[in-house]
Amino acid sequence: MRILCIGDVVGSAGCEFLLSELPKLRRFYNADFTAVNGENSNNQNGITPKSADIIFSAGADVITTGNHVFKKREIYDYLDENPYILRPANYPDSTPGRGFCTVDKGRYDVCVINLMGVVFMENLANPFRYIDSLLNGIKAKVVLVDFHAEATSEKIALASYIDGRVSAVVGTHTHVQTADERLLPKGTAFITDLGMTGPKNSSLGLCIEPIIQKFINYMPVRYSVADGACILCGVCIEIDEKTGKALSIERIQIE
Ligand SMILES: [Fe+2]
Ligand SMILES: [Fe+2]
Repeated sequence: MRILCIGDVVGSAGCEFLLSELPKLRRFYNADFTAVNGENSNNQNGITPKSADIIFSAGADVITTGNHVFKKREIYDYLDENPYILRPANYPDSTPGRGFCTVDKGRYDVCVINLMGVVFMENLANPFRYIDSLLNGIKAKVVLVDFHAEATSEKIALASYIDGRVSAVVGTHTHVQTADERLLPKGTAFITDLGMTGPKNSSLGLCIEPIIQKFINYMPVRYSVADGACILCGVCIEIDEKTGKALSIERIQIE
C-alpha cells in the first residue's frame, strides 16, 4: 500500500493549493491513504472546523497537528467529535481530542499517531516513554507516526528508537523539508521534516518583512500569511501491509 504524508498546510492559500494538487497527487501515486498536517491551516494560525473540512475534502484520511492545535477555540469540540483529526498524544489527558486513531481500510487497518517533541517546545510528557506505552496497545500492522518537533536530533533519535516497531516516522513543524528520507535498518521509513504546503516566497509561509523586523528590533509584530505561488511538500511511502514494514520512501515537492 502507498501512503502520502503532506507537511503543514499554511493559511487559506495553502488550503487552496492542497485542494487543487492533492487529488492529482493521489492519482499519480495511486495512494491508498493520506495524512496531512493542518496545524497552521487557519489564516490567523491554528486550525478551525472550516480549514479542517477543506483538508478532508482535498482527500486527507487523517489530519495531524502540533503545538498550534489549540490556538482557535472553535476547534475544541471538533477535536472531541471527529476521531480522524489528532492533536499530539503526549498533551495532558485533560486537553480536547485524542492523539491517535485507527482507520479501517478494508483489507487492513492504518493507525496514525501524532506525537510532539519536548526540545525547545512545551514541556509535554516524554515522547519516548509515551510512545512505548502507546505501541503496546496498538494492533494495526501499518502504523504511521507524525512526530511534531523542532530539533533534528530528537526526531532522528525517536525514529531510531521505534525503528521496526512502526511503518513510518515523518517529522513536521519546521516547515522546511529535509533531504534525508530513508529506510532505517529495521524497516521504518523516515524523514526529519516533510516541509510545508503554502506560499513559497515567505518565512515558513508568513510574510517575510515583519519577521525581519522582529529579528532586528525584538518587538511584537503582526504576522500574516504571505502572498504568491505555493509549494506542496511531503513524501510517498510504500508499505507491505502484511508485515507493516516500509519498502520505499520518496520525497515530494511541487510548485
Ligand atoms: Fe506548522
Ligand atoms: Fe508546529
